[in-house]
Amino acid sequence: MSDGQLETNVLFGTPTWRCPVPDMHRFHGEIKTQLRELWRQGYFQRHGSGYGYQTTEELFTPVNLEKIEYLRVLKKAFVDACTRILAHRHGHSKNMPFDVYCVQGWVLIQTNESWVDGPWHHHHPATLSGCYYVQIPPTRDPTEGLLMFQRSEPTNVFCENMAAVRPIEGCLTIFPSYLMHRPMPTPTANDWRIGICMDAFVHWHKKSEDPLRSFEDLDAYEAARKNSLAGR
Ligand SMILES: [Fe+2]
Repeated sequence: MSDGQLETNVLFGTPTWRCPVPDMHRFHGEIKTQLRELWRQGYFQRHGSGYGYQTTEELFTPVNLEKIEYLRVLKKAFVDACTRILAHRHGHSKNMPFDVYCVQGWVLIQTNESWVDGPWHHHHPATLSGCYYVQIPPTRDPTEGLLMFQRSEPTNVFCENMAAVRPIEGCLTIFPSYLMHRPMPTPTANDWRIGICMDAFVHWHKKSEDPLRSFEDLDAYEAARKNSLAGR
């Protein structure tokens, strides 16, 4: 699928996506300055909030969204991309209007310290997860800092069991949240690898059975979606 700037990369039969977010580029300097200041103040502690150096998952609070423009821009880009991705869904869900009702976000800073070795994990029960890369430092070995994925089925000799996606500065990588993944360490980097990670949680509205594609426009879809929630 090539939907606008959304590029699909299929790994062992499972789609993942990448899209550039040019509206975010102008904020990179501001984000890095803020993170350096937080670091200086001692906010980032080893495993202080999840693995490695992370903020809490509460980036998109109403107060933060009101105050911080880049969070509004990034959240919108992520939700827009997820909405375009989900327009191509399969099976029974084709007949269900959906709603990305919650987005979590957090910053992950990866340093070159020897203990930083991202463990395998997934983001279930979110539906789609993504990472926007603010900074990808150069490394001597090109495999450093890759985002690795593991096939969900048992390992066997007939299929590839692992695949890598190369993070690109200024781009969003999105993948199904159930996929096991890990960022490769960056021992030879001389700066931080900075990602803003996000999870999208989706409601499927069973009351309305009209497929999304049958709506004339987004307003008609939105009206049906609201109607499907009425009386809950
Ligand atoms: Fe993750």
